[in-house]
Amino acid sequence: MNRTLAAIKVEDDVLAHNYHPLPVVIESARGAWVVDVDGKRYLDCLAGYSALNFGHGHPVLLAAARGQLDRATLTSRAFHNDRLGPFAAKLADLCGMQMVLPMNTGAEAVETGVKVARRWAYEVKGVPADTAEIVVAAGNFHGRTTTVVSFSTDEQARAGFGPFTPGFTVVPYDDLDALDAAVGERTAAVLVEPIQGEAGVVVPSDGYLAGVRRICDDRRALFVADEIQSGLGRTGATFACELAGVRPDVYLLGKALGGGVVPVSAVVSSREVLGLIGPGEHGSTFGGNPLAAAVGSAVVDLLATGEYQAAARRIGAVLHGGLRELVGHGVTAVRGVGAWAGVDIDPAVGTGRQVCEALAERGVLVKDTHGSTIRLAPPLVATDDEIGWALARLREVLTARPGN
Ligand SMILES: Cc1ncc(COP(=O)(O)O)c(C=O)c1O
Repeated sequence: MNRTLAAIKVEDDVLAHNYHPLPVVIESARGAWVVDVDGKRYLDCLAGYSALNFGHGHPVLLAAARGQLDRATLTSRAFHNDRLGPFAAKLADLCGMQMVLPMNTGAEAVETGVKVARRWAYEVKGVPADTAEIVVAAGNFHGRTTTVVSFSTDEQARAGFGPFTPGFTVVPYDDLDALDAAVGERTAAVLVEPIQGEAGVVVPSDGYLAGVRRICDDRRALFVADEIQSGLGRTGATFACELAGVRPDVYLLGKALGGGVVPVSAVVSSREVLGLIGPGEHGSTFGGNPLAAAVGSAVVDLLATGEYQAAARRIGAVLHGGLRELVGHGVTAVRGVGAWAGVDIDPAVGTGRQVCEALAERGVLVKDTHGSTIRLAPPLVATDDEIGWALARLREVLTARPGN
């Protein structure tokens, strides 16, 4: 048995099967490339679902982490640490906001956003106790915790996990009439992804996010933008909302905020909103730890240069240019913005999974979603040549028809 099969067997025996990974066992990684236990190299065109926007082992982020490892890694928020304040100040500034509530994972940031929005509804908007509603969009993906799957429309994510948390209203995505009808006096917030990643990189129509902003303003509800996947450079802007010229009331951030080194997430908002949370009302042992804050600070510094947003635009031009040429040649549709694409595979060619497996054999890592769609989100350190090389492998796979 080769080392790949042996490693997969060990995992299969002891790990809950809550994922169905491609049969690639990564041993090391640098920049846009990973190497498996048998020494084979792959171009990483998934980038940890955008957690690795800056690539694997970015020297600046590793230096920040290494420097902090020798100072202090965890204090808990029972005490202050000298990294957290400066990180929060920089992050608030990057977002054009005033306050930060640090957590660890994306789902925790969403849970926190839900609590904060409810608190605002009761204390500021005057919604009667325990009746606040949050309006969300069908096809959403905001994480896997019980409350978060309560408002998922993906039956696989929910079946067998009830009872669910009440207080959510689901409307179709990209449908302002439906949103308009759903937002009312008890609405605390509208929670949407500016681009739906897991759904297959679904970009809403021009004017949708501006419409969400208008409805929230008219009805006095918070606009909570889940930019956990779309934010921090992926789309060619720091935030996908910026592309639509819109400022939400609350940003939910995660993934790339930890630079692919440590889990870091945050809720970023105004003093009016985050100032409503007092001691003992919310928290996390690891949220805001000095190691996370040191890496997060370095991430914000990288983003403040604008270099990675520009790289996403450059990669996007090559990626989308190449993908458009494949429409009608094994691809039925392509969506996306910047270095982010959802590609619908013609079922006659094979399933998304089969295309991903065939690409992995050729040294390109991507991931399928919802059966026939594959998602590409290469690290923003990938070169044009590398993107061109990956596109050539995709063309080969589509021509070879992996499903046959
Ligand atoms: C938009 C969005 N929100 C929330 C999450 C959940 O993040 P995590 O897996 O870190 O809990 C994800 C993860 O894919 C996501 O894409």
